[in-house]
Amino acid sequence: MSLAVRTENPYLPEPMRLIRRYPLTDDVHFFQVRAVDMERAMSLTYSPGQFMMVSIPGIGEAPFSISSTPSRPGLIEFGIRRVGRITDKIFELKENSVLGVRGPYGNGFPIERMIGQNLVIVMGGLGAIPLRSLLLYALDNRDQFDKIFLIYGAKRPAEMLFRKEFISLMDREDLNCLLTVDKDDTGKWPGHTGLVTTLFQYVKGIDPEKTTVVVIGPPVMYKFCVAEVLKLNIPKHQILMSLERRMKCGVGKCGHCIIGGYIYTCLEGPVFSYWDVLHMKGLI
Ligand SMILES: Cc1cc2nc3c(=O)[nH]c(=O)nc-3n(C[C@H](O)[C@H](O)[C@H](O)COP(=O)(O)OP(=O)(O)OC[C@H]3O[C@@H](n4cnc5c(N)ncnc54)[C@H](O)[C@@H]3O)c2cc1C
Ligand code: FES
Repeated sequence: MSLAVRTENPYLPEPMRLIRRYPLTDDVHFFQVRAVDMERAMSLTYSPGQFMMVSIPGIGEAPFSISSTPSRPGLIEFGIRRVGRITDKIFELKENSVLGVRGPYGNGFPIERMIGQNLVIVMGGLGAIPLRSLLLYALDNRDQFDKIFLIYGAKRPAEMLFRKEFISLMDREDLNCLLTVDKDDTGKWPGHTGLVTTLFQYVKGIDPEKTTVVVIGPPVMYKFCVAEVLKLNIPKHQILMSLERRMKCGVGKCGHCIIGGYIYTCLEGPVFSYWDVLHMKGLI
């Protein structure tokens, strides 16, 4: 498959090989893929916060956030929750099998605007998947950011995605890694215990005008975490979130993802600011 053909047909998936897969939790698995064409694998670029369409021939395709960082080229990583037809088939794939992937799509996080700023990354549930991309990117380019806070809340340790990886970050002096579980049922949990909102008291010493906060998690988390973020006086356009809608084409053609009559979330999103959310009807 040549790159010229792919450029002409935006729907044509790229063959990618499944290099590694393993469970992150009971129902969310990690999938690491690489373009079969090595030249393409090394040249494929994307931004943290973008997504790709993953396809299984004869079954269909679905959007998944990219969890890897463009600062480590060659491999693309996804975290996928098994919920239905397509994800069932993806979970049946063995390492070394080939699947179709197209993209990247969506706007991603506005990295250029974040440079020089403090970064507060707040994650819950599947929100850890796209936010791991941003976190790893920021750590790989540590000089470009001021203070970095990671705030992650899960119900219990077994439900925390990338648990071991994030626990290992707790030792870093250039990252405020704040992990919490509602309940520790293991007796070995090294982080905090309590609701994710209790961690905001540790976000100190930041100029709110020079801080970007990114919150991605289940709807209930947005409600309570945004309230905490507002107490820190962060301007609304510097509070970012990723809003998922049903998507089919990913390229602004099918209209499945339109909200408010004219916003194509596959093109203008999935990343929006809290200001957008307050001013655009139908965004949440
Ligand atoms: C931009 C974007 C990024 C995404 N990133 C990820 C990711 O990183 N990891 C991940 O696991 N999933 C992600 N999703 C959701 C993923 O695309 C869906 O779970 C997938 O399409 C389900 O396909 P399926 O055929 O297995 O399930 P289906 O058979 O289509 O559905 C099974 C069940 O899941 C529900 N469902 C399906 N899609 C969604 C959805 N988008 N939101 C809520 N409920 C849904 C259905 O209503 C149904 O109850 C993302 C979606 C978008 C739009
Ligand atoms: S997913 Fe088709 S227009 Fe957005």
